[in-house]
Amino acid sequence: MAVIKIEDIAHVRFAAPDLSSMRSFLEDFGMVCFEAGGRLYGRGADGRPFVHVTEPGEAKFLAVGFRAETIADLESLAAHEGAKVEDSAEPGGGKIVRLTDPDGYGVEIVAGQAKGEELRGFADQPRNTVMARSRQRTAVRLEPGPAHVRRIGHAVLRVRDFRASETWYKERFGFLTSDEVEAATNVPVGAFMRCDRGEKLADHHTLFLAQLPGELGLLHAAFEVANLDDLMLGHQHLKAKKREPAWGVGRHIMGSQIFDYWKDPFGNELEHWTDGDLFTAADPPQKMPMSALLAVQWGSPHPMFAGKASPGPSLASFIMALWLRLQRLFRRQPRGIST
Ligand SMILES: [Fe+2]
Repeated sequence: MAVIKIEDIAHVRFAAPDLSSMRSFLEDFGMVCFEAGGRLYGRGADGRPFVHVTEPGEAKFLAVGFRAETIADLESLAAHEGAKVEDSAEPGGGKIVRLTDPDGYGVEIVAGQAKGEELRGFADQPRNTVMARSRQRTAVRLEPGPAHVRRIGHAVLRVRDFRASETWYKERFGFLTSDEVEAATNVPVGAFMRCDRGEKLADHHTLFLAQLPGELGLLHAAFEVANLDDLMLGHQHLKAKKREPAWGVGRHIMGSQIFDYWKDPFGNELEHWTDGDLFTAADPPQKMPMSALLAVQWGSPHPMFAGKASPGPSLASFIMALWLRLQRLFRRQPRGIST
């Protein structure tokens, strides 16, 4: 039984040496930005006080924030951790508990934040398909410009030991596995995990923990936009502004989202997505091969597989499985010697 069950992701927190260049990017990405207390905040249209925070400093990912249902939940969590429930001095107020995960990432659990007015988002018109002629006697006319970020949806963290991190997050926050990704049978790379909302629907993933080679850090944070038109207009806008593309547009296999990834001026990757899977707590976990992580149902192949000398998904899975098995072996050895 988990200590609490979190409701959703709340925000991601970064440090950057130049808040104005971060602001300019986030506005091109489709957030509404404001500064308060020396920090830069980005918000979506959903009325939440912020989804993205930047503090002045050397460029770095600092923390992921999750939203608890109640302040009583924060108190239970703080008691379990020997931590404090503090007043949040940030926009929206409320209370906050600050933890550190096994890889040193900040994890900020908030509750009681004031919800403001929803912003006017993208006008979601009915669509005509062969099965449903929903848009009648009216034309599609789209305004060019940035996408309309509605809300934050998930974060992907690179971890040193997937099983250790999975246990840490599940025990505290009640995450459920949607898809566990394997490089080979019983050699997990990571898992897409969703919030346990009982009979209510939850995004296919709110957190993805990935034990991949490379430096620790945030792999990306993702933000929901209105629909495919909104995402494509956002893509055109970011391209016109000469922002750095990372991957997309395409449709993922796990989670099924239509995705589009971009890099901010400090190398952090942010994703626009629309039309993702929704599950309840009754939907069972699946095991999926690593090839399905980087493959697409349609659209741009992962940049790793786009070049002429690309290894291909099955060779990449084989190499990953070997690397993970070696990691397991070296992690076990010191324990064996000391006991
Ligand atoms: Fe994503």
